[in-house]
Amino acid sequence: MREQLLAAEKVKAIDWHDGVLHLLDQRVLPLEETWRSYDSAAGVAEAIRLMVVRGAPAIGISAAYGVLLGARARLAAGGDWRAALEEDFAVLAASRPTAVNLFWALERMRERLARLQDGDDVLAALEAEAIGIHDSDREANLTMAQLGVELIRKHDRRAQKLLTHCNTGALATGGFGTALGVIRAAHVAGLVERVFADETRPWLQGARLTAWELAGEGIPVSLNADAAAAHLMKTEGISWVIVGADRITANGDVANKIGTYQLAVNAMHHGVRFMVVAPSSTIDMNLSSGDDIPIEERDGRELLEVGGHRVAAEVHAVNPVFDVTPADLIDAIVTEKGVVERPDAKKMAQLMCRKRLH
Ligand code: MRU
Repeated sequence: MREQLLAAEKVKAIDWHDGVLHLLDQRVLPLEETWRSYDSAAGVAEAIRLMVVRGAPAIGISAAYGVLLGARARLAAGGDWRAALEEDFAVLAASRPTAVNLFWALERMRERLARLQDGDDVLAALEAEAIGIHDSDREANLTMAQLGVELIRKHDRRAQKLLTHCNTGALATGGFGTALGVIRAAHVAGLVERVFADETRPWLQGARLTAWELAGEGIPVSLNADAAAAHLMKTEGISWVIVGADRITANGDVANKIGTYQLAVNAMHHGVRFMVVAPSSTIDMNLSSGDDIPIEERDGRELLEVGGHRVAAEVHAVNPVFDVTPADLIDAIVTEKGVVERPDAKKMAQLMCRKRLH
């Protein structure tokens, strides 16, 4: 299965070469495939803020390269480069608040800096760390895909209808995806009859990105309005909702793209299983529950305008872009460390004690 999955890795969003970070601009997909280049920490932070790059793991990976770019400039400028680099850490940390992978990656880079010995090549060490973060995310995707497929197969070995939300694929990660990685692997295993992709208002990650990724690989996909999800659960015989996560707290609560919570409520009502797929870098054991997760609020123009043209009445728009699904609505959290069924604080703590499987 691993070889078949690697062969399915066709799209990538992040490319590090020749000392420059290249990002596929997700604001203009699928109509335009434009790569943008970044050679500064501030530039990377701006790319994250504007969602040139998005998706929790991809944000973390980009931020790691951002620290490397910042260190390169600070070292070249001379003086107290470590103190100056703190400004870059701060700018990167302020780019988006909800996905903990960003802060996890910054912490990994900070720890690598702390371990430097006299005479070490600082930039070589930071580059190896950033590439390591990138590569391990790709590996985690592969492990989660296999675990997720085993879980689907455990309940039903026939081809099934799956529903997903937002974009959790190659565009959102260092590999071929979290939830979408499971869906890709399920397709390889013959377990997918059709994928229903929520369009994911207002940024349209589902319509623009997920539909594009799946159609590009010949996986049967139907796009639906977010508001159609409950109706589709009732009428289409959907067996699983499979989504990613931006932050999972110590009790198993899950922050993910706005609309995930109502999917989980609807899934519970209709007896549809609910799977969350996320690498352990998305788990924040410092927060005891989802109530403590900072929820990003974006510009109301994302709702008031379509393609830069005003379509709504002249009113105030409220635009929280994530919500929190309580653990008791979740059937399983799939990570590269293993699967937690019916998550709670005890099971999450046991999971986080485990060493990586790969
Ligand atoms: O605002 P976005 O597009 O960065 O939000 C992305 C999501 O909510 C994804 O579901 C999540 O990051 C998991 S991506 C593997």
